[in-house]
Amino acid sequence: MKAVNLEAPYTIGLKDIPEPKRKAGEALLKIKSAGICGSDIGAYRGTNTLVSYPRIIGHELAGEIVEIDDNPRGLKTGDKVIVDPYLYCGTCYPCSIGRTNCCENLKVLGVHVDGGMAEYITHPATMLVKVPDSLPWELIPMAEPLTIALHAIHRTKLTAGEHVAINGAGAIGLLIAQGALAYGAIPILIDMVEERLDFARSLGVQHTIQLNKQDLLSTLKTITNGRMAEVVVEASGANSAIRNTLDMVSFAGRIALTGWPKNQTELPTDIITRKEIDIRGSRTSVGEFEEALNLMVTSRVDARKILSKVVSLLEIPDMVREQSEFPGKYLKINALIG
Ligand SMILES: NC(=O)c1ccc[n+]([C@@H]2O[C@H](COP(=O)([O-])OP(=O)(O)OC[C@H]3O[C@@H](n4cnc5c(N)ncnc54)[C@H](O)[C@@H]3O)[C@@H](O)[C@H]2O)c1
Ligand SMILES: [Zn+2]
Ligand SMILES: [Zn+2]
Repeated sequence: MKAVNLEAPYTIGLKDIPEPKRKAGEALLKIKSAGICGSDIGAYRGTNTLVSYPRIIGHELAGEIVEIDDNPRGLKTGDKVIVDPYLYCGTCYPCSIGRTNCCENLKVLGVHVDGGMAEYITHPATMLVKVPDSLPWELIPMAEPLTIALHAIHRTKLTAGEHVAINGAGAIGLLIAQGALAYGAIPILIDMVEERLDFARSLGVQHTIQLNKQDLLSTLKTITNGRMAEVVVEASGANSAIRNTLDMVSFAGRIALTGWPKNQTELPTDIITRKEIDIRGSRTSVGEFEEALNLMVTSRVDARKILSKVVSLLEIPDMVREQSEFPGKYLKINALIG
């Protein structure tokens, strides 16, 4: 079968590999769709230090069950499922308290172990989530980045009526904004790229702030009637944006850090003490796929609007190269496979 293989940074192509054999407890899946994620581009560029090579990439994966053992959740051959791609050990401290996304031995598909941009994969049956039949294959992979967005929302305990300022109007920031709207909160999206903010407004986000053109803090102060944002989510990975969160947040406010910065950020911690800010890391997701799929199937999150392009398995290597070369060109690309 064919799979998308990264032989080394900047060397990507299709590779013929044997079809995987299912072990007890695993399901064999025919992959039907896969999303190209920013982290796949990071793996291509060799900037993600967690990736070892050669590596089959892809962790945003939907497919049909081909083989599975009898299981307590009643999953069966022919079921439409999405892959929960964060494999955890189940025995370390975070796993023991249900925070399996922070597993000390976490293995993410396409990063630490081979991923699923391939015709078939095997995956633990307990890490598959059934997908409503009405969701079209090309949209389903979007539930994975949506879980990332929901995790940030959950980490900040965002509630209806609160302002949530979001740094970065990329795929993740836009999904956080749509999730916030579904929660009845008031998203404020911040970016320097005008087109991304125009696009955010077309999704129903009323407030945007364009860096370099508008003053961030005074505009935010006006929007929040002087309070500043009760919740701030950092979804850009830029050091300056991480630093800004402390000034953007209200007294007694909450911050979630989702963006992965390449370098350390210096922070004046006296602001954290003075405002008594809760700062939380937000990493991947845990148990959030059902909610993501539900938001998509009820159109409270319009995943189709964020999908820029649908390609085939054969076109993935070219699309990865193109996205690496022109990072702002597409918001999200998914592939239909098989
Ligand atoms: N924590 C996790 O589990 C997790 C999962 C997926 C992605 N991420 C990270 O989340 C971030 C966003 O991912 P994405 O796929 O949406 O990336 P993206 O590159 O598509 O979007 C980032 C956006 O941030 C904007 N930006 C850059 N500098 C900024 C600044 N100073 N202030 C505000 N906006 C700024 C860019 O113009 C861009 O629109 C990345 O850092 C990514 O690595 C984290
Ligand atoms: Zn992803
Ligand atoms: Zn663990």
